[in-house]
Amino acid sequence: MASVVRDPLWRALGRGFVVATAATLAGCGGGTPPQGTTLTYFRDVKSIVDEKCTQCHYEGGIGPFALKTYEDVLAHKDAIRIQVASKNMPPWSPSKDCTEYVGDRSLSDAQITALTGWADQGAKKGTEGEYRAPAEAQAPKLSRVDLHMKLPVPYTPTKSPDDYRCFIVDWTAQTTKYVTGFRANPGNSAIVHHVIAFLAQPADVAEYQKLDDAEPGPGYTCYGGPGGANRRVGMLGGWAPGSLGSDFPPATGLKVLPGSKVILQVHYNTLVAKPAPDETSVDVKLDDQVDKEAIILPWTNFNLWVRDRKMTIPAGATNQMYRFAFDPTPFFGMIPGLSIAPNKPFTLHSAAHHMHTRGTTGRIQIERADGTDECLLDIKKWDFHWQGAYGFKKSKEFHPGDQLSIECHWDNSAANQPVGPDGKLLEPRELNWGEGTTDEMCIGFFYVTQ
Ligand code: HEC
Repeated sequence: MASVVRDPLWRALGRGFVVATAATLAGCGGGTPPQGTTLTYFRDVKSIVDEKCTQCHYEGGIGPFALKTYEDVLAHKDAIRIQVASKNMPPWSPSKDCTEYVGDRSLSDAQITALTGWADQGAKKGTEGEYRAPAEAQAPKLSRVDLHMKLPVPYTPTKSPDDYRCFIVDWTAQTTKYVTGFRANPGNSAIVHHVIAFLAQPADVAEYQKLDDAEPGPGYTCYGGPGGANRRVGMLGGWAPGSLGSDFPPATGLKVLPGSKVILQVHYNTLVAKPAPDETSVDVKLDDQVDKEAIILPWTNFNLWVRDRKMTIPAGATNQMYRFAFDPTPFFGMIPGLSIAPNKPFTLHSAAHHMHTRGTTGRIQIERADGTDECLLDIKKWDFHWQGAYGFKKSKEFHPGDQLSIECHWDNSAANQPVGPDGKLLEPRELNWGEGTTDEMCIGFFYVTQ
């Protein structure tokens, strides 16, 4: 994510605010097995599994078991049937009728029918000769690691249930570089809730070092951002459950000067799991030159929701909604050193949506000056554990006079609460903007060039 000087921009965002409630959206899925020939693993199943499952389901991957062989898939056929019919697997939150994304993990209806039908018809093996390798490439990945950065020493969280800790990590490149790909590797995934890599400019490093020196143990307590009074902090990238890391769009990157430091903010949550040592790390791909310098644009109603704490979600509300729409182009001029000039079109390459556990649906779109809407990201079944930045197959142009809008819905009823330390659902309480897992957020992030 990127170099945005937060305050002036976020202050400029305090308009176009709407609150409403509406009926709950619901979704369902499923398929019926085809008539005729019996489906077999080698002919009908393996290529789908290889294309859509094995990037996570391999020995040592983030999926709980490998799906490499016939025996693997057979052993889990009933669970697979349930998970693909309900569209829980593969994890993929964006709605198909919004826009097209790079590395879309979702299954087509025909693929769902093949997997469920195969399980229903007795999960036959077939013969190896029937196998055809999948046509489409697998999910995007970070293609090269030029710099690996990790916590100075392993850290065990000391605050409960939320410990926000910032670690200063050396940036060892000796010349100006562009970060052209990013991946965060949560060390202890049972307690790491999110990771953000902030970038401290060389002139600001001493200020962060003072914060670090003032506290015992590695790192220092930070909340929301990396702390300190500076106005120049940017973001390199983030990790929340579900994001796997990738290269940035070709010939674009985030600029980093030699002498900078990376400040890794790790949010530990020990509501359910016990504190244990963590050694989170970050990998980046670097290039000396790019055609276009990028920024990460955060998108929320800073004035009303964050500063004035007006994003209240009453206890028991089943469909609380907040929406924010705004044209940022006149305000880019207020941010010194920003590679985006004011009052000009800019290009959006990806969108990410962030809420916490009571989120239900979310939508991000461009509301064109001519009255039409262009959907960027529409999530009809929000799942906190599967979120990330979704890269557009075709980038989107934003023109002065358009509005960029974000809409969030929450269910804060007794049935939709996170699990507390005693293993029971928490009692509903009024929620507001906050960084903790028992607070809520409504924020988008865009990778932007001009
Ligand atoms: C992006 C990574 C990823 C992909 C792709 C993926 N899975 Fe999973 N899968 C997981 C993780 C992680 C879990 C553990 C449960 C969770 O976190 O939701 C899981 C759990 C499961 C489960 C067990 C659910 C349960 O607890 O009963 C099944 C079955 C499954 N996956 C099948 C599939 C199939 C079939 C595909 C491909 C069509 C697939 N998965 C693709 C990551 C993935």
